[in-house]
Amino acid sequence: VSSPTRPQWLADDMARIEDLLFEAAGASQLALVAEASTHLIKAGGKRLRPALVMISSRAGEPGRRATDLAATAIELVHLATLYHDDVIDETETRRGVPTAHAKWGTDVAVLAGDYLFASGSALGADAGGEVPGILARAIAEVCEGQIAETESAGDPLRPVEDFLDTIGKKTGALFRASCDLGAATSGAAPDARRALVEFGSHLGLAFQMVDDLLDLTGDPRVTGKTPGTDLKEGVYTLPVLLACRSDRGLARRLREGHRALDEVLPVLERTGALAEAFARARSEAEAARTALATLERTPWRQTLEGVLDGVLGQVA
Ligand code: IPE
Ligand code: IPE
Ligand code: MG
Ligand code: MG
Repeated sequence: VSSPTRPQWLADDMARIEDLLFEAAGASQLALVAEASTHLIKAGGKRLRPALVMISSRAGEPGRRATDLAATAIELVHLATLYHDDVIDETETRRGVPTAHAKWGTDVAVLAGDYLFASGSALGADAGGEVPGILARAIAEVCEGQIAETESAGDPLRPVEDFLDTIGKKTGALFRASCDLGAATSGAAPDARRALVEFGSHLGLAFQMVDDLLDLTGDPRVTGKTPGTDLKEGVYTLPVLLACRSDRGLARRLREGHRALDEVLPVLERTGALAEAFARARSEAEAARTALATLERTPWRQTLEGVLDGVLGQVA
């Protein structure tokens, strides 16, 4: 059913992207390569990043082939990061199905991730113009963020500013790039493009904060992921970092290896850290909304606001 936040044009756009995704990821003549590379695409996923490309492209001339290619490319890149992230985080479930490494082993998972990075890059090259550069720089930033996260793992007293910088890179980069790709490939005006990139940055931060909350409080039947993974990996997210500032006992216990969700969660609730982290996610979402306010009130702007509400709605 179409509505301002889920319009028919977006459904049509996303149907084309879906076909392109399968075509690109399933192109190999080698059965295992095609199977492993399409595994997570078949399993589902929100397709948030390509949707942002398509919606942002309404700021210029929509319907160009380069926009479709860029939207497909950014989802392939996102998928690649998921394959690698699941190896790093040692998770068994994603999108409600076994992760690639759980199914085929680490070697295949890493290589299928590489294959998806390359497939996305090839589509980016076909799109031409600024697309390959935007993609490549975003990929580099994701890697920086993931390395910074690895470097800081196990430190419950990590500065909050540091943490925010890391999530801006590991997650914000692809959201920012998605909005930028939509604007760039459609030839949007510079002012609109700047506003969209600013929107994407804030949305990306809000999105990761919400994902981090879901890792602590989410229903695995909804998220398709195993709760408590961040804690188990020593990846201390905003609620944990905030709680450790007011309760040094928590920091000590985490350092001693007491990282079980059912032990930690009550402390996050008692100290108000969970509520505070949610408030910060909401204020990032408000910053994203403010960035949009400089744009003309168009139906597609409303659709972007709908995306924002959808992200927050997961934990509201
Ligand atoms: C998961 O992203 C990785 C994060 C940045 C938290 P999504 O939550 O967008 O994953 P899918 O694509 O819907 O599975
Ligand atoms: C990973 O963040 C972000 C990426 C760059 C893939 P998370 O580790 O929180 O993502 P999930 O929760 O596994 O999807
Ligand atoms: Mg992960
Ligand atoms: Mg997560």
